[in-house]
Amino acid sequence: HRHLLGIEPLRPDEIVTILDLADQYVDLGRRRDKHARALAGLTQINMFFESSTRTQASFELAGKRLGADVMSMAMQASSIKKGETLIDTAMTLNAMHPDLLVVRHPQSGAADLLAQKVNCAVLNAGDGRHEHPTQALLDALTIRRAKGRLHRLSVAICGDIAHSRVARSNILLLHKMENRVRLVGPPTLMPSGIEEFGVEVFDDMEEGLRDVDVVMMLRLQRERMDGGFIPSEREYFHRYGLDAEKLAHASPEAIVMHPGPMNRGVEIDGTLADDINRSVIQDQVEMGVAVRMAAMDLLARNLRARPTEVMA
Ligand code: CP
Repeated sequence: HRHLLGIEPLRPDEIVTILDLADQYVDLGRRRDKHARALAGLTQINMFFESSTRTQASFELAGKRLGADVMSMAMQASSIKKGETLIDTAMTLNAMHPDLLVVRHPQSGAADLLAQKVNCAVLNAGDGRHEHPTQALLDALTIRRAKGRLHRLSVAICGDIAHSRVARSNILLLHKMENRVRLVGPPTLMPSGIEEFGVEVFDDMEEGLRDVDVVMMLRLQRERMDGGFIPSEREYFHRYGLDAEKLAHASPEAIVMHPGPMNRGVEIDGTLADDINRSVIQDQVEMGVAVRMAAMDLLARNLRARPTEVMA
C-alpha cells in the first residue's frame, strides 16, 4: 500500500505483518536508546485539525525514534485561520517534499482526499466518523499481547458507537481476524443498519458483556452530537458506565480497554480504569507508539522501493 487510510483495504496477513513489526518496536521503546534508522533522511509532517494528545504525541515520537525530520503543524496558528482550504494547505506543504503526511480532520474522507492530491504517503490519524486505523491496530496489538491471540475472541464495544471512528475501524479489523463483535449502548447512539456489519447489538450492559473476553469502552462524543440526543452524565453512567459490578458479567479474565481521552464517572469508573489487573489502557498508549513506528516503517519501505521523482 502507498497510504494507510483505513483498515478496510488491509488483508489479515498485512495486519499481522504490521503487528509483528510493532512487537519489535515495543522492545525498542523499552530500551534506554530508542533509536532506529528506518525513516532516516525522510520528512514527516503532522497536520492535526482536531485536538489530540495520544495520537499526535505518539506519531511525533514514532517518527523521531525512527530518525525522520518531524514537523508538527500548529493548525490553530496556520493560514487555515485566514481561509486557506485543506487542499491548498496540503498542496503548500506537499511542495516542500514531505515523505509522510499524518492527518487528523473532523470530516470523513479528508485523508482519502489528500491522498489523491499529494505525492507522499498519507496516514489517517482519524477522519470524522469514518476511520482511525492506527487506533484499531494498537488495540489489536494490545489484545494480542494480553490474550495471546487475536482470533476467536468475543469483544464488546460499548457506548457512543454512532459517532465513533474507533468503533468502525475496530469492527472492521476484529472481523477480518475472525472475532465476534458485540455492540452495547443506547439505541440513540447506535447507527441504524449496523447489524449488516455482522455484529450483535445490545442495549443492556449485563446482557452485552456476558462472558466476553474484551470490554472496549468509548467516550461520549458530545462535540459530534450537534444538538441531538445528549444523555445526562449521571443517568448514562448508571446504565452504560463500566464499573466492577457490570464487569462481573464478562469473563473473569476479561480485559478493559478505552482509546482515551476518557471521562471518568461517565463511561467508565475511575477506580476500574486504574486497576492494572483488569485495565490495559496504559498498554494501549504504549502500543500506539510502536504501531505507528511499524506503519511508517512499512510505508517508507514502499516509498524507497519507488524510483525517485525528479524535481522539475
Ligand atoms: N485515542 C485517541 O485518538 O486519542 P487522542 O484524541 O488524544 O489522539
